[in-house]
Amino acid sequence: MLQITRPRTVHSIVELRDIVRDWRRAGDLVAITPTMGGLHEGHLSLVRAARRRARRVIATIFVNPTQFGKGEDFEAYPRDDVRDAEMLAGAGCDLIYAPSVLEMYPEGFGTTISVDGITDEMCGGHRPGHFDGVTTVVCKLLNQAQPDYALFGEKDWQQLVTIRQMVRDLDMPIRIASSPTVREADGLAMSSRNRYLSREQRVIAAKLNKALFASADHIAHGVPLERVLGACRKALLSAGFDSIDYLDARDAHTLSPVDRFADGNESRLFVAARLGKTRLIDNVPIERTGMTE
Ligand code: PAF
Repeated sequence: MLQITRPRTVHSIVELRDIVRDWRRAGDLVAITPTMGGLHEGHLSLVRAARRRARRVIATIFVNPTQFGKGEDFEAYPRDDVRDAEMLAGAGCDLIYAPSVLEMYPEGFGTTISVDGITDEMCGGHRPGHFDGVTTVVCKLLNQAQPDYALFGEKDWQQLVTIRQMVRDLDMPIRIASSPTVREADGLAMSSRNRYLSREQRVIAAKLNKALFASADHIAHGVPLERVLGACRKALLSAGFDSIDYLDARDAHTLSPVDRFADGNESRLFVAARLGKTRLIDNVPIERTGMTE
């Protein structure tokens, strides 16, 4: 019988650095996939993508308190170390780095990494301070592990472009790579937060991606943006979503708003919508797929 051994877990920066140093001495490339645990297939696809780039793969598991706002789900965020480790073993992870809050933010910690502009709107506008928490912790994780590659999911597109900018701005010698959003059979983007949904909410949640793909297709085929977005909002609210934080067409790289589809410009449609206490985000490319003629 095939025995899959769980990857070793370390909790301190010193242990992490010792292991990475040995790998480097052996000439191995190192990739990291930062996570907050509560793993799903989307995370495993990142680990597999990391594995294709580097011989050694680290997954970090740290529910980062500084990226949660007041009244958000920091306490409720799923934590299941045993299950996470089993999943990571099957995906080819070599090492789990799971620091404590004190290891990451010792007494007297006083630095914040803040990327301006690109974080002002969308999730940044609705979750003040969120991206400062993300960039600060990711900067620390990258400094601690000093990998060759770091992998991030495209579901959190604003996070991905923000991290790319941070790495560029701070001259960090790390290549940032991304993996496409992994979806459930009905198209719902996988997220650790999907487990908060009730059975009824789960049915409604699946309508988010369908509305988004259909709207992106209409925009790509020349239907006026305002009309498409208005219809999409209406459809989501009547499907049962409680509110929509944003529904925006934006340039994929700068995140500046776009007002119509233009061939050759990479743009995406972004949404964040609330269903009870759960906030769901998703984004899709605006491109001609041949769905609408
Ligand atoms: O995407 C996430 O899970 C988190 O924002 C990250 C990148 C691990 C930082 O805490």
